[in-house]
Amino acid sequence: MNTIIAANWKMNKTREEAKESVSELFRLIAGADLPETRRVFVFTPFTCIADAAEAAKANPKLLIGGQDVYPADHGAFTGEISPAMLRDAGARWVLAGHSERRHIIGENDDFVAEKTAFALQNGLSVMLCIGETLQEREDGQLKDVLLRQLTVVANNLKSKNLVGSLPQTFAVAYEPVWAIGTGKVAGEAEVLDAHAAVRSILEDLLGPVGKQLPILYGGSVKPANAASLLKLDNVDGLLVGGASLEAKTFMQIVAAQ
Ligand code: 13P
Repeated sequence: MNTIIAANWKMNKTREEAKESVSELFRLIAGADLPETRRVFVFTPFTCIADAAEAAKANPKLLIGGQDVYPADHGAFTGEISPAMLRDAGARWVLAGHSERRHIIGENDDFVAEKTAFALQNGLSVMLCIGETLQEREDGQLKDVLLRQLTVVANNLKSKNLVGSLPQTFAVAYEPVWAIGTGKVAGEAEVLDAHAAVRSILEDLLGPVGKQLPILYGGSVKPANAASLLKLDNVDGLLVGGASLEAKTFMQIVAAQ
């Protein structure tokens, strides 16, 4: 399985800044002795996708993605963006269900499942984000939340016969909401426990395909904790917010082993 190190830039960077960052990352990756299976994704704001994709295009291990997608081809959906528009701009991947979309914008599980399936049906690969709030964790609901979030998506994918192609086109990012942007990285035992739960739910829901899907950890990943996180069972990559904005810092995470 590939190891995916992904940058989520969130609402940061102009086109010029994006071009500079991706070009620098490109140079750093080209000069580094990375493990053969390492892949680097950068989820940029919509306005930056085309410039970032242009800057990344000669490196097949460096892919650009969008941060969200709407489940329709076109139409009266002010402010939204279709899979075809994202692909046209140069995106290959898209995030679905990031906790900031769930908790700030108010997206629910059904909508996240709908956009996941629609994006896959329309030529994008999807990184599905899941994770519990602090309250849910304190109430002992971690596994129930993960099961609920994954079940809605898996049922939708099964009903549309999309399961067979998932190993190449789908990844899950476990991001505990309380660890995002807080500097509070989940402890090793917490990450191991949550990732084992995600793996076992994926296998229950999707059969053998569930074994082959990368599970990334996200939440206050930094150069200092990246290598130890990557060594944990069922941690197949990292999704990085704040520490991905500066190419040199992000590169230390990309190269961690
Ligand atoms: P931070 O790395 O800033 O905690 O953000 C994590 C995240 O939300 C990535 O999607």
